[in-house]
Amino acid sequence: MSRYVQQRNFLKSNFLEFKNIKTDKIKGLPKPPIVKPYTSISPIINLPKVSEDVVKRQNIYECIKDRRSTRFYSEECLSLTELSYLLWATQGITGTNKAGLTLRTVPCSGATHTFETYLFITRVDGIQKGVYRYLPVDHQLLFMLDLDDIDQHIDAITLDQPFVPNFAKKAAVVFAWSTVPYRSEWKYDISAHKKILIDVGHVCQNLYLASESIGAGACAIGIYDQKLIDEVLDLDGEEEFVLYLGAVGKKRK
Ligand SMILES: Cc1cc2nc3c(=O)[nH]c(=O)nc-3n(C[C@H](O)[C@H](O)[C@H](O)COP(=O)(O)O)c2cc1C
Repeated sequence: MSRYVQQRNFLKSNFLEFKNIKTDKIKGLPKPPIVKPYTSISPIINLPKVSEDVVKRQNIYECIKDRRSTRFYSEECLSLTELSYLLWATQGITGTNKAGLTLRTVPCSGATHTFETYLFITRVDGIQKGVYRYLPVDHQLLFMLDLDDIDQHIDAITLDQPFVPNFAKKAAVVFAWSTVPYRSEWKYDISAHKKILIDVGHVCQNLYLASESIGAGACAIGIYDQKLIDEVLDLDGEEEFVLYLGAVGKKRK
């Protein structure tokens, strides 16, 4: 049992300990950027404006009731409008607060929004297969990598899936959420890490529900090769690393 102690303690609130800590924010250190900058000269794709017209099932009750982790997908592509909606539903910016932090479609402790969204795109109409990054401020996609054998990469990254082997490579899109922990550590110091994990759950839940509302299905993926995906996405594994994945595809009829 002793090996559980540290992990269990991580799940508990350490607010009283945190209250005595001089955080980087209190020390007056610069606030980290709210999104990851990019210097790439790679192509940028403007995503279609999101409107409720994309939604096929407006009834939230039914979407919640019918949601299931979906690991079998049809061959149908997602449209770019549908992908745009899924990105908006998971990380879209819908406002700013007094501190200049973004407010999004998902709640997040202290509006720190430590996540970046990467996409392994296999079947989206009008979009070349490859790896992309979502740019939430301008609601755009940044092209990152043209992976010829993208399905092999997804397969290697998602290791031995216990329910349906190798299902992720058959999805239309695999979302990969990284975290830049310092966006939260600056403000919450040792309390940041538990909050980050809770925050990412909200993101994936919105992926599930938004997928359900357009006739698609999602499946959360917590089993993956950390080193490999960080390498593929060129993340340093310390200041930014992948935390969670979600596969999406149109449901089989
Ligand atoms: C944090 C988390 C990690 C998960 N990781 C995987 C995974 O790696 N592979 C998989 O097939 N399903 C994964 N799932 C999906 C669960 O297996 C699924 O939610 C559970 O069996 C309940 O089924 P339901 O979502 O259809 O209600 C994960 C779900 C969560 C919340």
